[in-house]
Amino acid sequence: MEIFTHIKDLANYIHIKKILGYEIGFVPTMGALHQGHLSLVKASKGKNLLTVASIFVNPTQFGPNEDFEKYPRTVDHDIQLLESVKCDVLFLPSVKEMYPTASAITLSMPSLTQKYEGKYRTGHFEGVMLIVSKLFNIVLPNVAFFGQKDFQQCAIVKQMVKDLSFPVQIEIMPTIREDDGLAMSSRNRYLNEIERKKAVGIYQTLMYIKNMVQHEKSVENLIRHAHTYIEKFGFTQIDYIDIVNSDTLETLHYAYSENKPLMLITARLGTTRLLDNMYLYDI
Ligand code: PAF
Repeated sequence: MEIFTHIKDLANYIHIKKILGYEIGFVPTMGALHQGHLSLVKASKGKNLLTVASIFVNPTQFGPNEDFEKYPRTVDHDIQLLESVKCDVLFLPSVKEMYPTASAITLSMPSLTQKYEGKYRTGHFEGVMLIVSKLFNIVLPNVAFFGQKDFQQCAIVKQMVKDLSFPVQIEIMPTIREDDGLAMSSRNRYLNEIERKKAVGIYQTLMYIKNMVQHEKSVENLIRHAHTYIEKFGFTQIDYIDIVNSDTLETLHYAYSENKPLMLITARLGTTRLLDNMYLYDI
């Protein structure tokens, strides 16, 4: 695997590969890689794309009281994992390389960024839009891969690509889960043993509601049942549970299959926020 730390060197490399006719698949990450990330690399390789992964813990998407400093950084292990799935290129820039000076531009998309995660993480999605735009401009991917677990991020990136005419196709790949159903996440490593056992409650609640939707269509009732069910697992706080149209992220009143309902849950165990989502009908 080729590793680049400077934008200029990666840009030259991509330029040559494009002239040679390669199509680029891109997997942006913040490192602390797990099988979820690797599934994105495999998806890109599966499409015969020259696959570029990036590892960059992006400071602009962390709020002042968030875990930027303590966000897990496991670069040596990440490199081994990327090599194990034959990733072609890793872009591993420093903060100075990506933000030599504070950015003067702000991207904003109030309709999608102010609800759900945006309510709890002010400025988070503005930081995500900024870094994803910068990375797209550097890597010039034909296809970029994101995990469904961060569903709101996926919706925002898709809208941004449309609105700003980025010539990139966005592929959303299914959430990869641990054996008990917990969605894989770099932040799961913050959970202690007891919290780890409780964490499965999010997946179990999603499955419980997915079964219930066969006979109960009222979103209000489904959400009430979800709260009652998840509370038994001992979460310290439920940030939100909602059922939305998976195309628009608008809240639904009824969970009929034609409304493409997707259930979102974000809940906390101690200081760790866990988020997950599930389509309530198989797609
Ligand atoms: O999902 C992530 O890991 C990050 O938000 C991303 C897309 C790499 C941007 O920093």
